[in-house]
Amino acid sequence: MPADASIQTTPDNAAERLAKLASDVAMLEAIGAAWPPDQQATLARLKDAIEALHREALLRIVQGLREDPAAAQQLRKVVQDPLVFGVLRLHGLVRDPLESRVRAALESVAPFLAEHGGGVQLVAIKPPDTVEVRLTGACNGCPAAGMTLHQGVEKAIREYAPEITRIAAVKGAEPANDGKKIPLHFVSPFARENDGGFVDACALDELPLGVATALAVSGREVLFWRDHDSVSCVDNACAHLGMPLDGGEVVDGMIECPHHGFQYRLDTGECLTVPEVQLVVHAVRVRDGRVAVKLEA
Ligand code: FES
Repeated sequence: MPADASIQTTPDNAAERLAKLASDVAMLEAIGAAWPPDQQATLARLKDAIEALHREALLRIVQGLREDPAAAQQLRKVVQDPLVFGVLRLHGLVRDPLESRVRAALESVAPFLAEHGGGVQLVAIKPPDTVEVRLTGACNGCPAAGMTLHQGVEKAIREYAPEITRIAAVKGAEPANDGKKIPLHFVSPFARENDGGFVDACALDELPLGVATALAVSGREVLFWRDHDSVSCVDNACAHLGMPLDGGEVVDGMIECPHHGFQYRLDTGECLTVPEVQLVVHAVRVRDGRVAVKLEA
């Protein structure tokens, strides 16, 4: 090793010591990078071996301290030091704060959700094991939202934060900073924001929660179903014999045809009695408190 590669005297000041160590590491790495590949490989093996040795020692220290509650508390305090945290993190002995990891998990699935016109927001972290999220855009109220949550969001959160075992989807629009509801802006999964052909149907306030509301839109009989800020719309015509569904009993978002008892999910039109058939579903858009529908042909 060249003479100028040796580590010199140690400064008294902690910040200076750290800067000096960092610059020594950078200098040695630069020297090693210029070596032939076989020497670089040897250097890498040496580095790995030293790090493994240090990891083992640090692991024993951390495990030993965790056995004593008071020492464990002191350890948590010491880990607040960025250098200590950085080194322990390098060795896989501590993790980023839970919120950082959860946010990183949500960011990892954001591009996929955005491709489908949706998104996800972190609502709350409730230690030790619960995270609440809100699916937004086309994901909010989407018939496949359960799958999106389970396969995408949940999987990512569990990967980044294994201690989280419960992930709940919160419904409703995001509250504004002043605590008031933000203006509703909902586009059903059957529509795209820039789709044309929407027809104004009614005010959102005209659609009570938990009730299937029958309306005529452009001469077509349809049924609206509102779940908080999400609205869906299906033809008011049973897939069995085409008879009106309104007046049928509604329980938990399911409607039972008052004529022969076929059951349907109001948010997706899915028939629970005969899965091969389903109701005609229309795209819905809610903006500035008005509900618009794009009627299927
Ligand atoms: S018309 Fe609805 S079940 Fe027969």
